[in-house]
Amino acid sequence: MTTRVTSPHDTFELNNGVRIPVIGLGVFQTPPERTVQAVQAALQAGYRHIDTAAAYRNEREVGEGIRRSGIPREDVFVETKIWVSDYGHDQTLHAFEKATAKLGFDTIDLLLLHQPAVGAFDRTIGAYRALEKLLADGQVRAIGVSNFTPAVLDRLLAEVDVVPAVNQIELHPYFTQAATQRADAEHGILTQAWSPIGGITFYGGYDGPGKSTLTDPTLREIADRCGKTPAQAMLRWHLQQGRSAIPKSTNPARIAENTDIFDFALGREDLAAIDALDTGVRSGPDPEQPQPQFFEFRIPEA
Ligand code: A2P
Repeated sequence: MTTRVTSPHDTFELNNGVRIPVIGLGVFQTPPERTVQAVQAALQAGYRHIDTAAAYRNEREVGEGIRRSGIPREDVFVETKIWVSDYGHDQTLHAFEKATAKLGFDTIDLLLLHQPAVGAFDRTIGAYRALEKLLADGQVRAIGVSNFTPAVLDRLLAEVDVVPAVNQIELHPYFTQAATQRADAEHGILTQAWSPIGGITFYGGYDGPGKSTLTDPTLREIADRCGKTPAQAMLRWHLQQGRSAIPKSTNPARIAENTDIFDFALGREDLAAIDALDTGVRSGPDPEQPQPQFFEFRIPEA
């Protein structure tokens, strides 16, 4: 499949009819003091979608960056995530209050569960039930999950009413998660790629495979032939395959570079060559393993 995308304002339609801009700015690991400027740079460069999370501790600055941009709130798609220590029905409703107070917005366009809590799945279900209530009440426009494998997704779907609109997962050329992409598609869930240019394969703090997507010879060759950078080729690969992508950067030039991807297209062979780079090696935490330490990370009140 290849999807036609021509502008950062282009959208994918979610399973409830809401439209999400194809590319968004990610702000994982973006320090609060650099977030306002990064968000402003992104909106100036044409992005209309920002992906944050309670656990990133920069929701307040995301809201501030949007306000300072002068772009009307309704023209920007705001996505955030509930952290695991706030799971459980009533706790999650309160976590929504914390998030909206920090962002300074009454509604959220897309609200996700950040991780499945496989060791306390009843709390995950309670949290998702709270998202369903927020959706029914019109306080969020769409709901979804993050880091759900097909097996965990099946456990969720067996107990809830609303099929998630989005599953945000680690997805870059070195880890393509074909089975999860297939499961998402079968359920009408949009797959959204975190670390879409494989930052997790080269930035510090993780014991990844130790390779960098940015210097990969295949990506380099494709990018050179298109007169683009490897990052741009990877983002094009996501969008043409119908995935939402949220590259992160705090550097205005790279923020702009990552959305300057609408004047070229990859051919089918290039898309297949990038697919073939998959190593099957995950760099982030394994979502099917209980992570009790997640519950120790607390999200402050607004
Ligand atoms: P920086 O913030 O200094 O630009 P990912 O979203 O795949 O995890 O990648 C994020 C990482 O990639 C960050 O370390 C970011 O650093 C870097 N980065 C973002 N865009 C580009 C780009 N166009 N070229 C090179 N590095 C990039």
